[in-house]
Amino acid sequence: MQDDRLISSSLQEDDAKNEYSIRPHFLSEYIGQESVKEHMQIYIEAAKSRGESLDHALLYGPPGLGKTTLAGIIANEMGVSLRVTSGPAITHAGDLAALLTNLSPGDVLFIDEIHRLNPNVEEVLYPAMEDFALDIIIGKGPGARSIRLDLPRFTLIGATTRLGMLSSPLRDRFGIKEQLELYTPESLKEIITRSADILRIEIDEEGALEIASRSRGTPRIANRLLRRVRDYSQVRGNGVIDLPTAQGALSMLKIDELGLDAVDRKMLIAMIETFRGGPVGLDTIAAYTGEDAGTVEDVYEPYLLKLGFIARTTRGRIVLPEAYRHLGYPVPVTVQQDRLEV
Ligand SMILES: Nc1ncnc2c1ncn2[C@@H]1O[C@H](COP(=O)(O)OP(=O)(O)OP(=O)(O)O)[C@@H](O)[C@H]1O
Ligand SMILES: [Mg+2]
Repeated sequence: MQDDRLISSSLQEDDAKNEYSIRPHFLSEYIGQESVKEHMQIYIEAAKSRGESLDHALLYGPPGLGKTTLAGIIANEMGVSLRVTSGPAITHAGDLAALLTNLSPGDVLFIDEIHRLNPNVEEVLYPAMEDFALDIIIGKGPGARSIRLDLPRFTLIGATTRLGMLSSPLRDRFGIKEQLELYTPESLKEIITRSADILRIEIDEEGALEIASRSRGTPRIANRLLRRVRDYSQVRGNGVIDLPTAQGALSMLKIDELGLDAVDRKMLIAMIETFRGGPVGLDTIAAYTGEDAGTVEDVYEPYLLKLGFIARTTRGRIVLPEAYRHLGYPVPVTVQQDRLEV
């Protein structure tokens, strides 16, 4: 995966430096995602008033939308500790058993990329989630016996970019399932303004909205672009981010008004010129962009779908009229007609 792409939504080294200071710690600082926030507020308050641990929660949605952030907030709001791990990091059932037995009552165990759990590990998780128990087999062969260990009541928070890859027994064991959506430019503008404030960057409203509109609905990208525009404004401007500085910096970085970069354009142009607007299979698109199919699907497509630039059909991806217009192509008559039915 081309992780150095400026508009990549995955975490890069540079992001990590400021991560702690700009990451919201309470629900009141978490901007946007109103319905998720409202639900969580109710569940948290209800669990607290009953003096119980929160139900297991599954958070899903594209990278960089705030799943890890929300898990931290949930632990803070519940007043418990957060333990963080990830699907690929737990290689043996014993690793998970060790994590579980070390939890205190009410603690949150956060498993990132939970769709990548090894099936043997997943088996251990089922009774842990359902009965707060761990079944351990002692010995081997005919003499082997199973003993059941009680675990403290904990909350599992799973995060995934690929809900479809989760096994249904695992999915069914989460009482709370929340989908994070791409953010509106207005929410991103608020996020940028908040981060700028924390990082002591001077920015005006128009500058913030300009960065927001080019951040593909993703807070992680918004925060990253903010830092790049700041660099530009210090060297080419007077250090204050206004509309002209934001526009100048972002066009220098080849990120267009909608946040598309060279890779997006290459992908859309290939679909238009080589495949007459599609349908084009996912693997073909992946080959054209040099990304793997999963990355195209999880990372790049959600924003293009949201813009109404492409659609998924059973026969592959098709380009919609909006994308032709944005890229300065005439919209073929055939495209105007069949795309109405999508
Ligand atoms: N609602 C929000 N309000 C303010 N800042 C946010 C919000 N959501 C995310 N952020 C910021 O965006 C960045 C990315 O968030 P986070 O790491 O939680 O994303 P993620 O969904 O866990 O991504 P991944 O799928 O890559 O793990 C963080 O630095 C965080 O500060
Ligand atoms: Mg994360």
